[in-house]
Amino acid sequence: MSDARKTVFVKTYGCQMNVYDSDRMTDALLPSGYDVTETIEGADLVILNTCHIREKAAEKVYSELGRIRKLKEAREAQGGSMMIGVAGCVAQAEGEEIVRRSPVVDLVFGPQSYHKLPDLIDKAKDTRGLVDTDFPVEDKFAALPKPDKKLTQARGSTAFLTVQEGCDKFCAFCVVPYTRGAEVSRSVAQIQAEAQALVEAGVREITLLGQNVNAWHGEGQDGREWGLGELLHHLADIEGLERLRYTTSHPGDMDDALIDAHGSLDKLMPYLHLPVQSGSDAILKAMNRRHTREDYFRLVDRIRSVRDDIALSGDFIVGFPGETDQDFEDTLDLVRRVTYAQAYSFKYSPRPGTPAADSEEQVPEDVKSERLYRLQDLLKEQQAAFNQSCLGREMDLLLERPGRMDGQLVGRSPWLQAVQVEAPQSLIGQIARVRIDKVGNNSLFASLTDTPVWAHSEISEQDSQAERSLVEH
Ligand code: 5AD
Ligand code: SF4
Repeated sequence: MSDARKTVFVKTYGCQMNVYDSDRMTDALLPSGYDVTETIEGADLVILNTCHIREKAAEKVYSELGRIRKLKEAREAQGGSMMIGVAGCVAQAEGEEIVRRSPVVDLVFGPQSYHKLPDLIDKAKDTRGLVDTDFPVEDKFAALPKPDKKLTQARGSTAFLTVQEGCDKFCAFCVVPYTRGAEVSRSVAQIQAEAQALVEAGVREITLLGQNVNAWHGEGQDGREWGLGELLHHLADIEGLERLRYTTSHPGDMDDALIDAHGSLDKLMPYLHLPVQSGSDAILKAMNRRHTREDYFRLVDRIRSVRDDIALSGDFIVGFPGETDQDFEDTLDLVRRVTYAQAYSFKYSPRPGTPAADSEEQVPEDVKSERLYRLQDLLKEQQAAFNQSCLGREMDLLLERPGRMDGQLVGRSPWLQAVQVEAPQSLIGQIARVRIDKVGNNSLFASLTDTPVWAHSEISEQDSQAERSLVEH
């Protein structure tokens, strides 16, 4: 490798875990001479970190590659070079096919290969079209460097931390068990060290990530196996860490210790993403979700009994094969009974290789669209009602970055709402007490109360202004 620094541009699609993975890639590339750039045009290395969860993900990647090919050709015409890598779940699922259809690609690598990235790049210089989609036995997380302090500071005061990867649940619609492989939990020691490094770099809020995060069961420092509730208690002791969250959870893995953590840990934010997918027992069974709607109601009651102000969020799929009008009505009924503060909903999209994709009971597209419209209408109404209920309320905001207008900052409420507040830039990275004084369609507006700001950050104003790239959903 030459001494001159190079630049890497990473485009991230899909979930928070891909955001985390993209950050780990740029951390791993830093010592090999790559600095992050926010513009693709001049980049020496372009990585598309792809998502395969729904609809035409691969097609989106191929059309993006078509656009990038032109940039690469223009670069080469001027005597330069641009290396192109495809990472993530489309890379895992399509493998060789990507290089066959898009010969412009230098390197294809799956989610289990990120720690080998500097090495793979070196190899791809000689072997254009290198593909590495193994599920290696070695521990990717042990091999990845700790989050880089400067890069972490530039990413702001909130961070993701993957504690668990893969899934053994095999829901009938989902590609994750195939693209991310079997469930793997990181050890407490590894997680603790990474959390500590993030906090030392100024991070105030950590969201623990996993495809099935509440199935996490890692080796504790006492040699015993711990569950997520115990891990949260342990991390809450880190001085300087003010807030904890975790996502995404399966209802079947909410054990008592985890539920109780919501009642006893102040640092655990009162917000829980708890996808149910459908409100019909017949569809839940066909989806292989392994619980009934009544189980879900009981679980929600139990969680609310320990933390009555918890806000729930969810994922829903409409038009799963065999879904009747009545099944769909049952989903609407479940939503009305649970009430969500926020939710994602999707039309069922057949994913090759998953059991439901082969079903002969596929629901017509127009029926799916109509159901999605009705469900989203109800969910939007509930979200608006939740936001409205915050009017006049005092709450703590973690101030993350400059807001829309001069003199405004954007902060996150405990319930994950984005709130605009009049406040000086010097407060970025700190937690402030505010009162909500206006609720708009998409945002909340607040003013600082007289209570002094009580958390302090070492993040410099300039560093914390750099915004992280948006996750596409
Ligand atoms: N079709 C539609 N939605 C899906 N999801 C996962 N697989 C599919 C699919 N094949 C949704 C689920 C999941 C979220 C991340 O994406 O609701 O919880
Ligand atoms: Fe996919 Fe979640 Fe089901 Fe696992 S639990 S198969 S990640 S939907």
